[in-house]
Amino acid sequence: MKGVIFDLDGVLVSTDEFHYRGWARLATEEGIPFTREDNHRQRGVSRMESLEILLKKSPKSYSGEQRLEMATRKNAYYVECLQNLTLADTLPGAREILVALRAAGIKLAVGSSSRNTPLIMEKTDLFRYFDAVADGNDITRSKPDPEVFLLAARRLGLPPEECVVVEDAEAGVEAARRAGMRVVGVGPAELGPCDLRVRNIGELTADAQTLHAGVVTFSVGGSQPDPRSVALLSAMLLQPESINSVVLPEKDLSALGQRLDSGIIYLYS
Ligand code: BG6
Ligand code: MG
Repeated sequence: MKGVIFDLDGVLVSTDEFHYRGWARLATEEGIPFTREDNHRQRGVSRMESLEILLKKSPKSYSGEQRLEMATRKNAYYVECLQNLTLADTLPGAREILVALRAAGIKLAVGSSSRNTPLIMEKTDLFRYFDAVADGNDITRSKPDPEVFLLAARRLGLPPEECVVVEDAEAGVEAARRAGMRVVGVGPAELGPCDLRVRNIGELTADAQTLHAGVVTFSVGGSQPDPRSVALLSAMLLQPESINSVVLPEKDLSALGQRLDSGIIYLYS
């Protein structure tokens, strides 16, 4: 693997609550019922498609012009919340994994459906870590269409099969798979098939002490690394030739499959 493409909302930055508040305020004004579950279904999809999800619960029909006005109104509420965004709103462990991947020579991109990506990255000072950004302003079809990830890979100068996507939304996982990329699923949501699942981005923190002499392993789960995840993640995220050793239980060897085609494998029981 030569590149990692990160989704933004819910993976690197905690903007989900702001999206929820923006849609909830609009829904209240319009007298439309709106729940957290409705909001979950809006993850990863574009603003206009998110509005369609909201309007499914309304008995009224709306003109194109009214829809556009509602989407604009919601965005104004959302952008109001974004003004308070700071460095502290990046999710725990996000910066650490970005720094570690860069140190390991991996190219990094953002692949987000959000048209507010530049504002969010500016407010949270995230631009500095990335070689490329592809977002909702660049695409015509949002996730689950693969367009945004294919564009991100192209901007990195990498073929899709050399990229891993990190995603927290079902639509995003599907988009990554349709792009021909491997995918790390983040968070508790039902995401469909992923190559690796972690509870949050913090579980992908790289252990700085192992980043030496071409030996790269990842600690997954803080002080209690899960060796199987360590092995899989290393194999997925890094060029196989940079992996000199992987520690994993014998029973999990088959899980590694073809992903590791060089290096020494140490077994532990
Ligand atoms: C995605 C979010 O990142 O961006 C979705 O997960 C959101 O919930 C979409 O609808 C579009 O965002 P924006 O900022 O362009 O309205
Ligand atoms: Mg997301």
